Amino acid sequence: PKKTILSFRPELFDFHGVSMTHYFTDNWENVQNFQARPDDILIATYPKAGTTWVSQILDLLYFGQTCPERQNNIPIYERVPFLEIAIPSLDSGYQSVISLWLYYHVSCFPYQSFPYSMFTPPPHAGKDLADKLPTTPRLIKTHFPVQFVPKSFWEQNCRIIYVARNAKDNMVSFFHFDRMNVIQPEAGEWDNYFHRFLEGQMVFGSWYDHVNGWWKKKQNYSNIHYMFYEDMIEDTEREIDKLCSFLGLSRSAEEKKMISGGVQFDKMKKNEMANYSTLPVMDFKISPFMRKGKVGDWKNHFTVAQNEVFDEDYKKKMKDPTLQFPTEI
Ligand code: A3P
Repeated sequence: PKKTILSFRPELFDFHGVSMTHYFTDNWENVQNFQARPDDILIATYPKAGTTWVSQILDLLYFGQTCPERQNNIPIYERVPFLEIAIPSLDSGYQSVISLWLYYHVSCFPYQSFPYSMFTPPPHAGKDLADKLPTTPRLIKTHFPVQFVPKSFWEQNCRIIYVARNAKDNMVSFFHFDRMNVIQPEAGEWDNYFHRFLEGQMVFGSWYDHVNGWWKKKQNYSNIHYMFYEDMIEDTEREIDKLCSFLGLSRSAEEKKMISGGVQFDKMKKNEMANYSTLPVMDFKISPFMRKGKVGDWKNHFTVAQNEVFDEDYKKKMKDPTLQFPTEI
């Protein structure tokens, strides 16, 4: 069926000192009361840092052998629920993007017969989807800055994988994402966006606070694996190895190689269950979700003057010498 793009552009507002939109705060109480289990794995990122990539890798590591139908039938955003997302339900008088999508989607895919069916009634919140996940472990995604993470994750000593991406490429990727995703605020002009990014006027707040906050948390919470998008680009297999060590998984060299091959950019771009093409809130004619998947694309966007402003500002905000992003990009 033809995909209809629905528009629900939200406003940014200050929420406990962080710029947010209502899609990620409406379910605040329930999300804060989320009951994590000790074997849950939280994938935490600033938006556009490589969340989907790492999610797909983890899903394959855990379920690639035992339940390969998963990867062929369930989109990544349902295999790995986005904890804080909340779309107003149809009966509250709103038109719900996700519900509409689910109705549309369920009629096209044989979900009802699938053992992982958790789609009746359609969930309106990532938290509900997470509650219903039948897998062990549950893979859960969040973009929260560290101080917003529900306390049960810490109490249960859950393993957390944090992915960071260099600020310049992260900004460019976020810009194109905000252009094409109607549940994000309008991106507007690039120069204005550039300044908003430096000021932290983005959904989920400041990139600088996010990467630093999570890095600091690592000092007193050992169950965080902090990794970098650029390292995954440099050597995906090596990063899969590190993930396996952190998670205590023994997987054969052959399997790891196969996973690494299967999650390369071109493969994931074509993979309908990983590329978000089934979600009607994203307009791929403006920009695809799997856009470029490169390190250094910022050079095609930043002016020389912007780069100088950026570097000057970066030095002031990134004072911790132990947190090093790749400099040669
Ligand atoms: P670009 O916009 O720079 O292309 P997230 O999943 O956190 O939203 O991040 C999306 C970014 O990760 C996009 O960056 C996307 O192309 C990139 N990405 C997704 N899968 C990838 C892969 N397999 N290899 C490299 N980059 C990938």
